[in-house]
Parts: sequence; C-alpha cells; structure tokens
Amino acid sequence: MLNLTQPLEMLRPPVLRFGVGTLSELAPWVAAQGYRRPFVVADAVNAGRLAQLGLSVTGCFGDVVPEPDVPNLEQAVAAAERAGADCILGFGGGSAMDLAKLVAVMVGQGVTLGEISGPHRAPARRVGLVQIPTTAGTGSEVGTRALITDPRTRSKIATESRHMLADLAIIDPALTYSVPAFVTAATGVDAMAHCVEAYTSRRAHPIIDSYALQGIELVGKYLKRAVEDGSDAEARAGLALAAFYGGVCLGPVNTTAGHAVAYPLGTRHKLAHGIANALIFPHVLAVNAPAQPEKTALICQALGFDHGAPDLVLAGARAFCEALGLDMRLRAHAVPEDDLPAMAQEAHQIRRLLDWNPVDLSVRDIEALYRAAY
Ligand SMILES: NC(=O)c1ccc[n+]([C@@H]2O[C@H](COP(=O)([O-])OP(=O)(O)OC[C@H]3O[C@@H](n4cnc5c(N)ncnc54)[C@H](O)[C@@H]3O)[C@@H](O)[C@H]2O)c1
Ligand SMILES: [Fe+2]
Repeated sequence: MLNLTQPLEMLRPPVLRFGVGTLSELAPWVAAQGYRRPFVVADAVNAGRLAQLGLSVTGCFGDVVPEPDVPNLEQAVAAAERAGADCILGFGGGSAMDLAKLVAVMVGQGVTLGEISGPHRAPARRVGLVQIPTTAGTGSEVGTRALITDPRTRSKIATESRHMLADLAIIDPALTYSVPAFVTAATGVDAMAHCVEAYTSRRAHPIIDSYALQGIELVGKYLKRAVEDGSDAEARAGLALAAFYGGVCLGPVNTTAGHAVAYPLGTRHKLAHGIANALIFPHVLAVNAPAQPEKTALICQALGFDHGAPDLVLAGARAFCEALGLDMRLRAHAVPEDDLPAMAQEAHQIRRLLDWNPVDLSVRDIEALYRAAY
C-alpha cells in the first residue's frame, strides 16, 4: 500500500468532454485542429451508425472484432494508411478503442506490434487521436494501454505509451443506450473490477482510492437499473462515469488477480472481456478479503451486500452479479473442465498483474478458484 507521501503520475487526455449530447462537439474540434482526413476504427455495430458522428470521414475500418487480435490490427493499420488518415477516431467499446490507439501510433510508421509492445516503446504519433466509448466498461478512452490477442500464443499483448493517450475523449452516455442487457451487465462489472482491483492492490494509492470507491458506488447504485432499463439516462451516465473512474485507476495502479485469472477465459475460450471478469470477480474479492478487511467491507457496502468472512463476501458478490442476469458458472460459458489446470498455469504467469495482488496466489490456488467458479 502506498501512502500520500509517495509519488504518483496521472495522465489524462488534455480535453475530455462528458455528458449527454457532447458528441456534437466532435466535428468543431476536428475542424479547429485542421484535420481533413479523419478515419474511424469501429466494431460493426458502431460502423453502422457513423452518421451520428456528425462529421464527414475519409474512411472507416468497421471490422473490429471483440478481443481484437494481431491480424485484425494489421488490417486496420493498412486501411488507415490507404485512406491517408490524419486523425484516428476510436468509436466503440474497448476493442475498437484499443485498436484505435495502436493504429494511431503505427499508421505510416512502418513498425510492427512486436517492435512497439510492452511499456514506452511506441513512436510519437503523426496523427490525431479521439476516443469515443460506446460501452461503459473498459475506461480505455482515458488510458495509455491497449490489449491485443496474439493468436499464436493465445495470450494478450499489452502495449503502453503516453503517445497512445487520446487528444480528445468524448464520453457521451447516450451512445450506450443501445447496449444490450447482457453486455451492459458484463461491462459494468468489468468497470467495477478495475476499481476494486486497484483499490485493493499492493500499490493502491490514496489519490486513486478516491476514484475507485466512487466508481464502485456508482456501479452499486446504477448497474441494475441500466440492465433493467437501457434508456435510464441517469443510470447510463452514472455507469459511463464509473467506467471513466475505472480507466483512471488502470493508469497508475492497474488491476491484479481478477484480471489475470480472467484472461485465459478470453484468450483460450473466447469469452468476452466483460463476462470473463464478472465470472472471476466474486472469487478474487473473497480470497483477498482477509488481506484487505477494511477496504473489502467498504466495497461490499457500496455494492449493497454483507461483508465479513470470505464465504459471506463470495456469496454476496455472486448474488450481486446473478441479480444482473449473469449465469455465474464457468460451465455455462463453454469452458471445458479439463482445461482448468492449463488455464491456472497460464494465469499464474501474468506476473505484471499478480505481483500486485494483496494475497500471493499459487497455481494450485488459482485452479481451486476456477473449480469453485465452475
Ligand atoms: N485499454 C484498457 O485499459 C482496457 C481495459 C479493459 C479492457 N480492455 C479491452 O477492451 C476489450 C473489451 O471491450 P468492451 O468490453 O467494451 O467490449 P467490445 O468493445 O468488444 O464490445 C462488446 C460488444 O458490444 C457491441 N457494442 C459496443 N457498443 C455498443 C452499443 N452502443 N450498442 C450495441 N452494441 C454495442 C460491440 O459490437 C461488441 O459486439 C477487450 O479487448 C479488452 O482486452 C482494454
Ligand atoms: Fe477489464
């Protein structure tokens, strides 16, 4: 745990617009910057509603797949190069925004992902970058990190650079009204998991703790409402804010065991990032509870269930997710039981996250956690 005397760097896009209707500020901003060839990186849903951007674009790569992989990135970079893009607009959930970050640093620079992945290796951008989230989950719009799946190793490649930070982020909650209930629930738990894991991390910092706890409270207050009524404007705005706070937490502190243990569900079994994290969240919260009793109590309180012994925390967190309509059993999501040992081995190697978990988890602990979730 860090204390207030310890240094912390926070990065944020220089301009951030938040609120219903802020998308209308995109076109004037692009014009004011002098960009003439804006290029959109979007998933199919958002590629189908480009008119909402209120801007004439030079092209769109509309084939971003959930949990994008290296070939998907290469296609997007090639499309942006063909279009002569001078500004990249990420328009979608974390998948589109992560891809947009990498396209922005790679376009026209003749570099491969292998040459820029890891921390601080990406070249300075030659193009602008705008991020427009349409899910309330990843907080990728305010971050410097992108995650791309390597189909050969089936692992996530993390790339991080301040050059991948957007010049402008527009968080317009109205863009999330159309997110289906299941995706709303899963991405909302993901946003909350960013906050929870940063809050309980070994390198938690008081500055970030404030954002984290507020993010958790917002999810406790609004997620069920948004799942039940996607047009609930107040709930959608609350979740968009929670996702933003989660993104703030990811920068200097980042996630811990929850995300590490969830990753193999995505890379090996194609579960989407949100649901993978939701399935694991109650188990990691419970296993970490004895190491972080006060913070765990505040998390449980913010989400509206009882705290105390790990069993109670697990039951409460699970019930919270089930009340959102999520089936919380790994078996219900086509995860093969005989792969659990290999998944545990793989998760255990994600040291960049696990080293900051408040409790040391062995391969055996992780496998037990998968079995409990199965
Ligand atoms: N950069 C980071 O710090 C960070 C953090 C967490 C996750 N991630 C990455 O983000 C990705 C997951 O992002 P996500 O959870 O936002 O999911 P996503 O971007 O894959 O979107 C999920 C689904 O929702 C659809 N969708 C998006 N917006 C919609 C809308 N407004 N209406 C209807 N449908 C809509 C998409 O087409 C897609 O099918 C993963 O690749 C994950 O690794 C990145
Ligand atoms: Fe996440």
